[in-house]
Amino acid sequence: MRTLLLPFSARFIAYTAVLVITAALLIELYFFPSAIVAVPLVLFAALAVIGTVDLIQTRHAVLRNYPLTAHIRFILEEIRPEIRQYFLESEKDGTPFSRDKRAIVYQRAKQALDKRPFGTQNDVYAAGFEWLHHSMAPRQVAQEGFRIAIGGPDCAKPYTASIFNISAMSFGALSPNAIRALNIGAKKGNFAHDTGEGGYSSYHRENGGDIIWEIGSGYFSCRNGDGTFCAEKFEAGARDAQVKMVELKLSQGAKPGHGGVLPAPKVTAEIAAARGVPAGVDCISPSRHSAFATPIEMMQFIATMRRLSGGKPAGFKLCIGHPWEFLAVCKAMVETGIYPDFIVVDGKEGGTGAAPLEFTDHLGMPLREGLNFVHNALIGINARDRIKLGASGKIVSAFDIARAMALGADWCNSARGFMFALGCIQSQSCHTDRCPTGVSTQDRVRQRALVVPDKSERVFNFHRATVEALAELVAAAGLSHPTELTRAHFSRRVSAHEVKSFAELYPPLKPGELLAGTRDPRFANAWDMASAKEFRAMPLAA
Ligand SMILES: Cc1cc2nc3c(=O)[nH]c(=O)nc-3n(C[C@H](O)[C@H](O)[C@H](O)COP(=O)(O)O)c2cc1C
Ligand code: SF4
Repeated sequence: MRTLLLPFSARFIAYTAVLVITAALLIELYFFPSAIVAVPLVLFAALAVIGTVDLIQTRHAVLRNYPLTAHIRFILEEIRPEIRQYFLESEKDGTPFSRDKRAIVYQRAKQALDKRPFGTQNDVYAAGFEWLHHSMAPRQVAQEGFRIAIGGPDCAKPYTASIFNISAMSFGALSPNAIRALNIGAKKGNFAHDTGEGGYSSYHRENGGDIIWEIGSGYFSCRNGDGTFCAEKFEAGARDAQVKMVELKLSQGAKPGHGGVLPAPKVTAEIAAARGVPAGVDCISPSRHSAFATPIEMMQFIATMRRLSGGKPAGFKLCIGHPWEFLAVCKAMVETGIYPDFIVVDGKEGGTGAAPLEFTDHLGMPLREGLNFVHNALIGINARDRIKLGASGKIVSAFDIARAMALGADWCNSARGFMFALGCIQSQSCHTDRCPTGVSTQDRVRQRALVVPDKSERVFNFHRATVEALAELVAAAGLSHPTELTRAHFSRRVSAHEVKSFAELYPPLKPGELLAGTRDPRFANAWDMASAKEFRAMPLAA
């Protein structure tokens, strides 16, 4: 009896109704042939086939139990982010970037009004609220874009960079049009465009904007057939006048310690040419480098990169993991006398095209702690003056830049900020190759959505307006350059009743303190565990 009633139960009723209507239409068509009956018959017959397939397929339990109707669930799941974003999100909602943060980029990129009425929407009495101290004697707002000289004493061709640049994003992760628009914007605004580890492609070269050439463990654009580093190819690319700095990527905040695979179907002939790999074969970035195995060898490799580039600033990018490993690199600097010209510290909060959830959510040090750690470690080995620090990790507004600079950054990079300027709507489908705005897809039809002349202008506008906003902030603080910002200029509410300045929250090391043998509990053990000869931790003396 139960089985006989099953077709009329709530979960099967839609399927049953479709079968009944299809049968009725079929009978009607048989006796009274007409187009008016044929059209709905085709529709209902198709639904009947779908329902039957749902019922007998074995992959989706929910479809077997709810033929036809379960598709509504799948459709709603698919459009859930859009529904949240369009109808439910408040100004402060939305992750990774709130609507408010995205809006400021869009407005600045489009040269639309970027002011806010009626006071802050932040709860200024909630723990975590931060502010910059203003001055009773504000300065004149600087008119010149802020720049910073990068290149230590061993560098023959220092580069004077903008304090705000485009962070590393590969061709492959981004579409050709996105790369073009970023590079044209960078050229127009006189700021730098980092290639990301996916190679120095023809799209980076077309328009002549300043390039920071990043190489990762795959050594794309400068590799031998077996995937090892090829000095000749690197030299040929790095000597190109458009390349202003060369960067070794150790890790990025969104997936530190994780390699990458660009699946075979995405390795198009174009991407294969840019990377120097065979087309149509999985393109693998190993999780570790083959060009060096110890901190000392890493410093020697940095020196090689600088030499092969003809003396351009050479540095590395990382998200801080084990403190003793970075300190091992510091010891290697001291021991070899080879110092990088710059280090880019990426925060755990950084973005990527695709990464495992556990890596994105729980591996790596957040930017502020990482930056503070690196800044102090370099002070502790007396190397802070010769090494410039870049910072990246959710930096999109002038306040974000100012805060990072107070914590030790000499300049800042933004990846997703510039993606928003390109039109990214944070749909978070970059890993599916179905980017709705043409920013992060290799699908030729979807790429068309990104119109290069329009979006390059927006990239330029976003950079200009953000630096102008920074100039206003700096002037309000009574300063003339963001490099004058210090920890004493910022405060954070740490509880409902207590406020601390950044100077209290992030106390500095004394110059040379690590070399002298520090007792600072943040560094003492890690320093003793660090060896210039190995990344592995040394056992502590009992
Ligand atoms: C689509 C995409 C691709 C990226 N590719 C690279 C890369 O090739 N190399 C790298 O060092 N970082 C890469 N990153 C990380 C960014 O350069 C940056 O460090 C990180 O996203 C933090 O900056 P953001 O918060 O401004 O996005 C990528 C990020 C995104 C969003
Ligand atoms: S629009 Fe969506 S898919 Fe495209 S880049 Fe932005 S987040 Fe990624």
